Amino acid sequence: MLPKDPHGCPYLQLAPMEGVGDASFRKAIASVGGFDEAVRDFLRVPINAHVKSLCRVYLANELVPIPLAAQIMGSDTDLMAAMAQELMLRGAPRIDVNCGCPSNTVTGKGAGSSLLKSPNTLHQVAKAVVQSVPIPVTVKMRSGYEDISLFKENLLAAEESGACYITLHPRTKVDGYGPPARWDLIAEAKSLLKIPVVGNGDILTVEDALTMLRTTKCDGLMIGRGSLINPFLFHQIRAHFAKKEYIPQKEDLALYLERYLTVMGPDAPEKLKINKLKQLLGFLFKSSQELMQHRQAILTSSHQDPASLLKEVMPLIRQQLPQACGNTSPSET
Ligand SMILES: Cc1cc2nc3c(=O)[nH]c(=O)nc-3n(C[C@H](O)[C@H](O)[C@H](O)COP(=O)(O)O)c2cc1C
Repeated sequence: MLPKDPHGCPYLQLAPMEGVGDASFRKAIASVGGFDEAVRDFLRVPINAHVKSLCRVYLANELVPIPLAAQIMGSDTDLMAAMAQELMLRGAPRIDVNCGCPSNTVTGKGAGSSLLKSPNTLHQVAKAVVQSVPIPVTVKMRSGYEDISLFKENLLAAEESGACYITLHPRTKVDGYGPPARWDLIAEAKSLLKIPVVGNGDILTVEDALTMLRTTKCDGLMIGRGSLINPFLFHQIRAHFAKKEYIPQKEDLALYLERYLTVMGPDAPEKLKINKLKQLLGFLFKSSQELMQHRQAILTSSHQDPASLLKEVMPLIRQQLPQACGNTSPSET
């Protein structure tokens, strides 16, 4: 079972998000907190993988005290098993098997969401990982490749592999991120499986989180883009269960953005910092209609350094913060 907090809040996880949700973002949002565990973006395991070198980028202590699970993506059972062993030696508390990445460069090699084309292959890959390590192994999957015809078979294949739980992002590979996530499929997975199911996809507000929990009966929640848009969302969900209100202070957001820049390090090129900051702001500005009106101008603005960009955006964000991120009272359900 996935643990709940003392107020009954289900297990909250930060989703892996390759590119956007890199170490800088993870460390910045970990400084805000509110989630129980994070999952690192995938480590791709090619056929000619050199396991030890591939695993070096995984740092178990990255978010201490928040645990950071390692995710692997590949289709070669021996290499996947070897990766899991090496990651365990590096301190990984859990290994997650990626069965969802839609990227063609990945699926072309039979990994990620391609595993959903063959429940048998999915089973073999997940089982090889489960059998290689004594730590928990989980499977993160989409609802199918082209369609959901193998949905149940894939769920059962994951369960029978010995995975501790599955995380379901209920869109097919072909859906990409287009149509709304089908939460009814999370409910279906929940009624089919004996192992826990973590629900994922399109949780943007406390209300969304509560609706997903109520309608699917899932055991935990994983949030990705919603946390980029509102980095206080985890706290707000947790506060709801504690019958409290979580209203971020204006300085919290400034600290979060400063932390984001600081962890990139003094040697990171200014241009890179500006681009990364703009990427993060691009999500943050989706949190309110008012900020959305400024989004394009900010994203296309030119700045010498990230400090001048921050100087321009902070007044806008401060003005909008209560509406954008503070709109969640405990009486909302
Ligand atoms: C930019 C980006 C990168 C992602 N990278 C990964 C990844 O490395 N591994 C993975 O399992 N899922 C990845 N995902 C999928 C997310 O973990 C999550 O399943 C999906 O975004 C739906 O959840 P959300 O609506 O809360 O964002 C990625 C999603 C995005 C938007």
